[in-house]
Amino acid sequence: MAKDPGRVLIFDTTLRDGEQSPGASLNLEEKLAIAQQLARLGVDVIEAGFPFASQGDFAAVQRIAEQVGGEEGPIICGLARASGPDIKACAKAIEAAPRKRIHTFIATSDIHLEHKLKKSRKEVLEIVPEMVKYARSFVDDVEFSCEDAARSDPEFLYEVIELAISAGAGTINIPDTVGYITPSEFGELISGIDKNVSNIDEAILSVHGHNDLGLAVANFLEAVKKGARQLECTINGIGERAGNAALEELVMSLHVRRRYFNPFFKREPDSPTPLTAIRTEEITKTSRLVSNLTGMVVQPNKAIVGANAFAHESGIHQDGVLKNRLTYEIVDAQTVGLADNRISLGKLSGRSAVRARLEELGYDLSREDLNEAFARFKDLADRKREITDRDLEAIVSEQVQQPEARFQLKLVQVSCGTALRPTATITLSDQDGKEETRASVGTGPVDAVCRALDSLADEPNELVEFSVKSVTEGIDAMGEVTIRLRRNGHLYSGHSADTDVVVAAAQAYVNALNRLVANENAQSIHPQRDLVEPAKRPSI
Ligand code: KIV
Ligand code: ZN
Repeated sequence: MAKDPGRVLIFDTTLRDGEQSPGASLNLEEKLAIAQQLARLGVDVIEAGFPFASQGDFAAVQRIAEQVGGEEGPIICGLARASGPDIKACAKAIEAAPRKRIHTFIATSDIHLEHKLKKSRKEVLEIVPEMVKYARSFVDDVEFSCEDAARSDPEFLYEVIELAISAGAGTINIPDTVGYITPSEFGELISGIDKNVSNIDEAILSVHGHNDLGLAVANFLEAVKKGARQLECTINGIGERAGNAALEELVMSLHVRRRYFNPFFKREPDSPTPLTAIRTEEITKTSRLVSNLTGMVVQPNKAIVGANAFAHESGIHQDGVLKNRLTYEIVDAQTVGLADNRISLGKLSGRSAVRARLEELGYDLSREDLNEAFARFKDLADRKREITDRDLEAIVSEQVQQPEARFQLKLVQVSCGTALRPTATITLSDQDGKEETRASVGTGPVDAVCRALDSLADEPNELVEFSVKSVTEGIDAMGEVTIRLRRNGHLYSGHSADTDVVVAAAQAYVNALNRLVANENAQSIHPQRDLVEPAKRPSI
């Protein structure tokens, strides 16, 4: 039997695999804000990034290792391909963390060996122990992954895993890299590893999976029944292609169906002890933060965190829920922190009230950040009668997008209507504070705003997504705008909220432009698609 910690460990890879999804790239401040929230959520491991990818990725993992976690907090983990320079850079990036892990991997399926790595099975069997030992020379906690395990020959997997454990890997991760396997097959694969790897009792079995067939969560739950005790997942299920297994769905399945899962942990069905260490009340806030900062909008019907997940539209359901919640509801909205969206503050609220409410919401801001948040709050309170928790969250999440800004939006003015050609006048300032103003006409006010911004910024791009939704209900609600721009095949997203959706659109566009100019020249390596090639190594 693989090592059993007595519960499921949650390994969050939002900042690594999640950030690999097109257009989801985050700046350092944003990564730090998400890592801090993941720590509040209570994840066991934060995979903070792939330090070898670029200087920016290295710096972000290093900052998270320095500032998030602590002796009691999550383990800070970095990803490294099974190559010396990758592992060395990873070790350096996570050095400051009191609890740290190197996660190294190599592909094991014949299809990857032949077409990607161009290596024989024999070569892989030599590389694995060498690289795991090398990683162990830096840290005690090493995880090893067999990329594309779900499509690998199980007999070869057993050999690889046995060598990795003998070399010192304490966690063995089994990825379904392409989201191909089905639940019973995955269960059999995990059972086979558990039975056929002679030293498996020295390691924790972990699973990682993508959602190409929509089966990732189901696959993981089957794996848990067969002895997997670490789940690698992302907030809102973001990740490459169809994404990764969604953290909130896994955690809430194990929470709501605890009676069913308890016996697989040798517990009585009625045992009330949670199966994960996640503070479920933090789930909604974490979901919103990740969605706001990555620009990956959550579909309304998404399980647990979608806008409709707890909405009871039909009359019959509403009646049933009013009589007894259990008729149509299996999760109490409060369990996931979807409280009654408290009206917390108003025009007359002072700085200390704003600070206190932000602290209650989990935002521990520096003095400057609080000053800025308070100024934005006052501005909003002049336009909106009641400020809710969601409004405050929208204000704060927008702030972390700003630090590396090349362009600052100074003025937005539009004229439009049935008898007018929509016209926008925009003033932008650059890093040196130099201001410039331009006016443009468009098919509508947002189009006019984007055209004026394009002519000022002179950064050619294609607008590929524009979405608006309201933060709260009511006529004076803030509108949240998400914009995605494409240039040279890369996507850049921007997000903003304001009571005026045209202003929100302008700010979101500026945020996306800032991301475009900041990231475009950043040379970055993809951990799975790029091979270990000396010529491509950036200097760390
Ligand atoms: O999907 C995958 O195989 C991965 C590995 C690097 C763990 O993300
Ligand atoms: Zn993955």
